[in-house]
Amino acid sequence: MRWTTISFLLFLMACKTYTNTSNVNREQPMSTIDKKIDALLAKMTLTEKVGQMIQYNGFYDATGPQPRGGDAARKYEHLRSGKVGSMLNVRGVDQVRAVQEIAVEETRLGIPLIIGFDVIHGYETQSPIPLAEAASWDLDAIENSAKVAAAEAAAAGINWTFAPMVDITRDARWGRVMEGAGEDPYYGSLVAAARVKGFQGDDLAQPNTIAACAKHFAGYGWSESGREYNTVDVGTSTLYNMILPPFKAAKDAGVKTFMNSFNDLNGIPATGDEFLLRDILKGAWKFDGFVVSDWDSIGEMYEHGYAANDAEAAMFAANAGCDMDMESYTYVEHLENLVNEGKVNEAHIDEAVRRILRVKFELGLFDDPYKYCSKEREQTIIGHESHHEAVLDLAKKSIVLLKNERSLLPLKDNDSYLVIGQLAEDKTSPLGSWRLAAKDNTAVSVLEGIENVSGKPALFKKGVQLTTDKATFVYPVPINTTDRKDFAEAIKAAKNVDKVVMVLGEHGFQSGESRSRTRIGLPGLQQELLEEIYKVNKNIILVLMNGRPLTIDWAAEHVPSILETWHLGSQSGNAIAEVLFGKYNPSGKLPMSFPRHVGQVPIYYNQKRTGRPDQKDGNVFFSHYSDEENTALYPFGHGLSYTWFEYRNLRVEVLGKTEVKVTVDLQNMGGLDGEEVAQLYIRDVAASVIRPKKELKGFQKVFLKAGEAKKLEFTLTENELGFFDNRGNFKVEPGEFHLKVGGSSENGIWSGFHLD
Ligand code: GLC
Repeated sequence: MRWTTISFLLFLMACKTYTNTSNVNREQPMSTIDKKIDALLAKMTLTEKVGQMIQYNGFYDATGPQPRGGDAARKYEHLRSGKVGSMLNVRGVDQVRAVQEIAVEETRLGIPLIIGFDVIHGYETQSPIPLAEAASWDLDAIENSAKVAAAEAAAAGINWTFAPMVDITRDARWGRVMEGAGEDPYYGSLVAAARVKGFQGDDLAQPNTIAACAKHFAGYGWSESGREYNTVDVGTSTLYNMILPPFKAAKDAGVKTFMNSFNDLNGIPATGDEFLLRDILKGAWKFDGFVVSDWDSIGEMYEHGYAANDAEAAMFAANAGCDMDMESYTYVEHLENLVNEGKVNEAHIDEAVRRILRVKFELGLFDDPYKYCSKEREQTIIGHESHHEAVLDLAKKSIVLLKNERSLLPLKDNDSYLVIGQLAEDKTSPLGSWRLAAKDNTAVSVLEGIENVSGKPALFKKGVQLTTDKATFVYPVPINTTDRKDFAEAIKAAKNVDKVVMVLGEHGFQSGESRSRTRIGLPGLQQELLEEIYKVNKNIILVLMNGRPLTIDWAAEHVPSILETWHLGSQSGNAIAEVLFGKYNPSGKLPMSFPRHVGQVPIYYNQKRTGRPDQKDGNVFFSHYSDEENTALYPFGHGLSYTWFEYRNLRVEVLGKTEVKVTVDLQNMGGLDGEEVAQLYIRDVAASVIRPKKELKGFQKVFLKAGEAKKLEFTLTENELGFFDNRGNFKVEPGEFHLKVGGSSENGIWSGFHLD
C-alpha cells in the first residue's frame, strides 16, 4: 500500500514537529533529543509503545530455535500496525528498505525500525574469530576490525550489531569461547572497549557506524561444566572482579545496548534479574541505552522454573528492566494487558521506549530512515580490498607460535614438504561459526595461501591432502569419521619429504554457540593420523585450526613445531603461509590457557593460591592432582617468535598511595626483527578479599629490530592496584605486592613494592 498525498503531507508536517531534520546538528545536546522523545511519546498509544519493545526475526538466518507460533503473515501484520520496533536477520539494502518502508510509511507514527544482526567478527569480509583477534594483543587492529565490520554491515542496511560478546570464560568445553576475548578481565575490558569504539565510531549518526551491544549480561561464560545454556552459580567476588569488569568497560566506552544472557545467575534468570539490569546496569552504572533479551530468553523463564506462564515471564522481564523482547512473543501477547491490570507500571514501558527511541534518534534514523539503504554503498563498500588488507594484517598478528624446536619453522626455500589435512583445503571453516553474511567457500585456504606466498603451485598439489574429517556444512555438522582410506598413501608420501605440514583441528561449526564438547582433543581420526605420520617422519609442523583451546598434550611432547592459527577469517591461508615461510614473524600470545587434560578445566592463570599451594614434608596434603600437573600445557600470555627476547633491569618506584612506576629493559636477542608482548602482572599478597596469585595489569606490544633494546615504562594506578570487595565496593589496600614483567603469565623477572 503506498502513501496518499494527504498522508505524506501529514508525515512531513509530523516530521516538522519532532524532527525538523534539515539542519539537525549531529552533536545536538541530548536535551534536544529528549524533547523529541517526549513529544513523540506523548502521541503514542500503549499499543504503539509496546510495539517499540518488540523485535522480530526476519525470514532468513534463524539464529535460535524457530519462533513459537510466529509466522511471516502475523509479523507483517504487526509491522503494518506499528507493533514492531526492531527486526533481526533482515539484511541487504533491498530487504531492509522493504521492511523499513512498511514501518515508516504505513504506520500511524512512522517510527523507523532499528535493524540488528550478528556482526561478530565481520559482515561479509571475515576477520579472525574474536578469540583469535584477542591473541594479537593489538587493540588498534582489533578496533579497526570492528570498524571494517561496521562499514560493511551499515552498507547492507544494518544499524545495530549484537557484539561485542564480552563474556570472560575459563572453560574450553564451552563452544562460545571463540566469540570472546579469553580468560582475563583486565585484557577483556580493553578489548571490549576497543570493539565498541570500532563499531560505534565517534558519531553514531554516520552511515558507516552502527550501535554495538555488550553481551551476554551476565555470567554466561561460567555455564556449569562448560555445557551450553547451563546454569550459573558464582560468588560475589567472581561476579565483581571477573565477570562484570568487561561489561562496565563497554558501558564506559559508550555502548548503546546490552543483551541479557540466557542463564540464571544464582537462581535468577538474567532476563528477569532486577539486580543485574536495574541495580547495577541502569542504577549504579547509569547506563542510558537499552537492553534486548537474548533469543526467546523472556519466554524461557518458564522453562527455567521461574515464571509460571508467558504472562508472568513478560511481567518479570519488563519490571526487571529488559527493554526489548527478541522472539519470545510474550511482550506482544501480554504486556499491554499487564499494564492495564496494574502488574507492570506504565512508567517502565515509557522508560523502555525512551531508551529505544534515543538510540534510534542517535543513529539518525528519524533524520533519514533510509540512510543505511544505499545500493551504491552496498556495491562499493562490502568486500572492499582495503577490508581484506585489514583482516589479513590482524590474522597474521593473531597466530601464536606455541613451539618451534630445531627451528623447523620457518620453511626454507629448498625444503621439500608435504601438506596433509582436510582443513588445509577447507575454505569455509576459517570463517568460523559466526559468519552469517559471509559467502561459503570464500576464505583463502592454507593450500591457496602457500601457493600465493611460496609461488610453488605445482609442488604440493602432488602432495596428499587427507580427508580425515569430512566436514560438511549442514547444520549441525558431523564431527567424527572412521575414514582411514587415505592413511596408507599419506604415510608413504610423508617418508619422502623433509618436513610435513599437518593442518588439523576443528571445522568451523565445532565451536561456537551450541557447540560444547566434553572431549577437546583433535576431533575424529586426526590424532591417530598425526601419530602414524610421526612414525615415518618426525619433522612435523602442526598447524592448528580451531575455535577453542584443545588438549594437544601428545603433540606438545612429540611434535617439534606447533602454530595456533584458530579460525582466521577470509584471509586465513595467506596469513598462515606468511608465517610458515617467515614473511611475518609470529607475535601472538594466548588469551586463554591450554589445558593438559580436560579434567583440569576450568583452568586459568589467575588462580588463587589456596591454603595448601605447595607440597610439604613429602606428604600429599596439598592442592594438586595425583595424575596430572596443576599447570596449563600452554599458559595465558604464552607465544614464541622466530627471534627471542630478554628482560633486564626491572625497577619499581612507588610514587604515592596509588601510583607505582615500573621500568624494564627489553632486548631482541635474535637475528630477526620481531614483536614482543611485554606483560606486567601483580600479586596483592594479603588482602581483605583473597587476590589471585597473579593478575595482568599492563602490557605493551613492542616491535624491535634484531639486537635492538628499549626501555619500557608502565604506571600502575588505583584502577590496576584495586579490587572489588564482596559488597561491590572498589578499594586499594596498603601492604605487600609482588610484580613480574615477562613474555607470558609463567615467565619473566620478579620484583615487588609496598603500599602504605
Ligand atoms: C543467539 C545468541 C546471541 C545472538 C542472538 C541473535 O541465540 O545467544 O548471542 O546475538 O541469538 O542471533
